[in-house]
Amino acid sequence: MKTIGLLTSGGDAPGMNAAIRAVVRTGIYNNIRMLGIREGYQGLLEGDLDDMDTASVGDIIQRGGTILRSARSDEFMTKEGFRKALNVIDVYNMDGLIVLGGDGTFRGAQELSQAGVPTIGIPCTIDNDLSYTDYTIGFISAVDTAVDAIGHIRDTSTSHGRSVVVEVMGRNCGDIALYAGLAGGAESILVPEVDYDIELVCQKLLAGKNRGKQHYLVVLAEGAGSGVDIARQIEDKTGIETKVSVLGYIQRGGAAASFDRIMASRMGKRAVELLIEGKKNRVLGFKCNEIIDMDIDEALSMKKVFNEELYDLASVLSI
Ligand code: F6P
Repeated sequence: MKTIGLLTSGGDAPGMNAAIRAVVRTGIYNNIRMLGIREGYQGLLEGDLDDMDTASVGDIIQRGGTILRSARSDEFMTKEGFRKALNVIDVYNMDGLIVLGGDGTFRGAQELSQAGVPTIGIPCTIDNDLSYTDYTIGFISAVDTAVDAIGHIRDTSTSHGRSVVVEVMGRNCGDIALYAGLAGGAESILVPEVDYDIELVCQKLLAGKNRGKQHYLVVLAEGAGSGVDIARQIEDKTGIETKVSVLGYIQRGGAAASFDRIMASRMGKRAVELLIEGKKNRVLGFKCNEIIDMDIDEALSMKKVFNEELYDLASVLSI
């Protein structure tokens, strides 16, 4: 293993920089030439890359975003774009490639693996939507940001006796809503994995009001509907003034939580070690408190299991 390429792709996530640092420093520690590719697969096919040294990853462990920048490349999905990417890998004598990202990024890695490029994936997405792993880097940082925002919203909604629908990210996965809703003490959590009845949400709100509650927080996953629609329905059905707060991109930025930095450091080091050991076409994950690696085809064929136990817990505690 003489040369390894590294890229970040798809939506950025806090902890990506800590993973870049770990990959680059583990590579250099093992006398490997480390190439940082800019803007994901787009940069790969354009040959937009540079050597990285230990100093180039200094002072980034805490920073959100990705110093390598990110992109969602349509060109890479074309035959011609893919061919260009393979050519760049060849020209730079890359013996392996490490990709940081989520599902879309791993699909690209799978294609490259099938074309014979030894590829390792590190799961980085705030959505926590990859089925083979309990955890994706960036998730808890995003949840912490959402919980902090929910606390602020709770203060003002209590002052005014309003109800607020807080819409969080997560694409088709309800994990950010579930964890932020549970930690933020939301009265209702609406996620795409569980059918909900807006009538029951409203009945709960009114029952709380009758008991003297001054606020009512609904945490809504973006994949479960529109915050604006839900807020309008709640207001129409209950007569209680209902606001909506879409948290949006504040969840994707900001300093990475310490757990994310540690996961990123562990997985980054392991990714390089796997390539040195001659392993290829694998993705890293976290299962039962252990860092694991799995064949990329197997990992991508698994179905995500929603945490019903946590959902039930949140329901019981919000009566
Ligand atoms: O995958 C991370 C994520 O932030 C999702 O939660 C969200 O649906 C999506 O990316 C937004 O993507 P983009 O920034 O490309 O619009």
